[in-house]
Amino acid sequence: MGMLDGKAAIITGGTSGIGEACVELFVQEGARVVIAARREAEGEALAARLGQAASFIRTDVAREADVRAMVAHCLSRFGRLDCLVNNAGTPGTMAPIAEFDAEKFDALVGVHLRGTLLGMKHAAPAMLAQGAGSIVNLGSLAAHFAGLSGHAYTAVKAAIVQVSRNVAIELGEGGVRVNSVSPGAIVTGIFGKGAGQTEAEAAKGFDTLKAHFTTVQAIRRPGMPVDIACAVAWLSSDLAGFVNGEDVKVDGGMPGGFTWSRSREFRAGMAKR
Ligand SMILES: NC(=O)c1ccc[n+]([C@@H]2O[C@H](COP(=O)([O-])OP(=O)(O)OC[C@H]3O[C@@H](n4cnc5c(N)ncnc54)[C@H](OP(=O)(O)O)[C@@H]3O)[C@@H](O)[C@H]2O)c1
Repeated sequence: MGMLDGKAAIITGGTSGIGEACVELFVQEGARVVIAARREAEGEALAARLGQAASFIRTDVAREADVRAMVAHCLSRFGRLDCLVNNAGTPGTMAPIAEFDAEKFDALVGVHLRGTLLGMKHAAPAMLAQGAGSIVNLGSLAAHFAGLSGHAYTAVKAAIVQVSRNVAIELGEGGVRVNSVSPGAIVTGIFGKGAGQTEAEAAKGFDTLKAHFTTVQAIRRPGMPVDIACAVAWLSSDLAGFVNGEDVKVDGGMPGGFTWSRSREFRAGMAKR
């Protein structure tokens, strides 16, 4: 028996990285999944690989008409909507505040914040009519700790975490739960894409990311997309039926403190002086 047996889900940004891992895990756990993203070839290929349990619809989450069509597609294809994962996202840059780019900021807000709000707007009526549902929005550790990402990205992720709590309070009364998941450092193409690379070029840098991300938290291995997918699947399942308005950080203990082995190395160095 799967954790998500019988459920119908929409996962935005399901064509790569964390979203793709969510799509695969949701299907493995018994859900039928709508993959919603912009790249048709990748989305259709993933849906074909997963068979009848998956369906792709080209969606730009910043466009309300697309988000409306995405929800309608899930209802017509699977007859219901139990889970929405607002995962679609684009990278921010680490530009200094003096170089703040208002147009890039508006684009970032469009995908992350507007996309998340539109997803909740159009999914809520179907979920409320069923008297049950789960929405999981992708936050970030950058919503909680300074210096991890650029200013604009940090701002939109903090907003997503807080608005998730607010909508959770509204929809909870109708049986619909809303939570967010805040990943730490996860090996995906978002970092390469942020540096102007294509998806394929970004993938070539995964070994470098893995080596670096092994060292940034207490758990001495890199965070991988499936690590986030596990938390998202749990929150989307009935196992988390009393969890509402929470932000779940999945980061291998990164904000727990300064890395232990580095502290010991430093102390040992001091002792030798
Ligand atoms: N990786 C990390 O360390 C990390 C840490 C914290 C938070 N996050 C968050 O996790 C989420 C997933 O990121 P990722 O790391 O898995 O990056 P990724 O591999 O680049 O995935 C991003 C996904 O979003 C989709 N997307 C981008 N713009 C879209 C739009 N306008 N409409 C619909 N889909 C769109 C992309 O697909 P198309 O190009 O096909 O549209 C892609 O599938 C993001 O919200 C990100 O901010 C990631």
